Amino acid sequence: MGKEPKPPLRMLVTAGPTHEPIDAVRYLANRSSGRMGMAIAQAAASRGTPCTLLLGPTPLNSPVHSQIQAVRFQSTADLEVLLRRHWPDHDVLVMAAAVADFRPANAKSGEKIKRTSAGMTLELEATPDLLAGIAPFTRPNQLVVGFALEPADRLISSAMDKLTRKKMDAIVANPLETMDSPDVRATVMFRNGSAGSPSRIDLPPMSKELFATWLVDRVLRIAGGQQAMNG
Ligand code: CTP
Repeated sequence: MGKEPKPPLRMLVTAGPTHEPIDAVRYLANRSSGRMGMAIAQAAASRGTPCTLLLGPTPLNSPVHSQIQAVRFQSTADLEVLLRRHWPDHDVLVMAAAVADFRPANAKSGEKIKRTSAGMTLELEATPDLLAGIAPFTRPNQLVVGFALEPADRLISSAMDKLTRKKMDAIVANPLETMDSPDVRATVMFRNGSAGSPSRIDLPPMSKELFATWLVDRVLRIAGGQQAMNG
């Protein structure tokens, strides 16, 4: 009797901006298009990897593919719930969503705030760090890939810091201009490089689609190797 074929690795991808409600009609947002995360889901699916895409409020349509299950979210709070629900059933998380760092502290979700001539002050509170939040539920065989968007002068130092602080296995560091643009100029760092220090790969500028294929192939190779080693 032959060996049971291994089930394919499953990938969870988050993409797009978040909308943080101020009241029933207004929100705080950012300029993320979601294109990077969508390209990653598409690249994974075309390699036969089942992929759950948690997609924020972008006007772009989710990629359509039999291997992609897309679930839409609006706010950081929605994404937090979805991550907790879906992460246990996946092997790899690619956290490409541009999650807000702050949100209105007292959102008036059921009403529309009236205009007055006096102006108003919006109080913001920090959002929860979603990557830190899932760390206690992450199994040793699961792989976490994060993103960092930073000004060029602190791109590498900030990304290195996030890689360890947020307990990621790899981080994709992109200069600020990448947001909203069709291209990336990525530096990718992997936590377990040779001699225990992170290894770093500087890639030339390329389309988000080409980069997505490169990243998916790398990450699936690492995740597959890790699972083969640890059983
Ligand atoms: N992220 C997250 N939860 C947040 C904010 C960000 O999980 N509340 C994730 C992002 O999806 C990304 C990674 O963390 O994969 C880095 O995001 P970034 O905003 O650069 O990290 P911060 O720790 O918020 O750093 P900064 O202070 O530079 O904004």
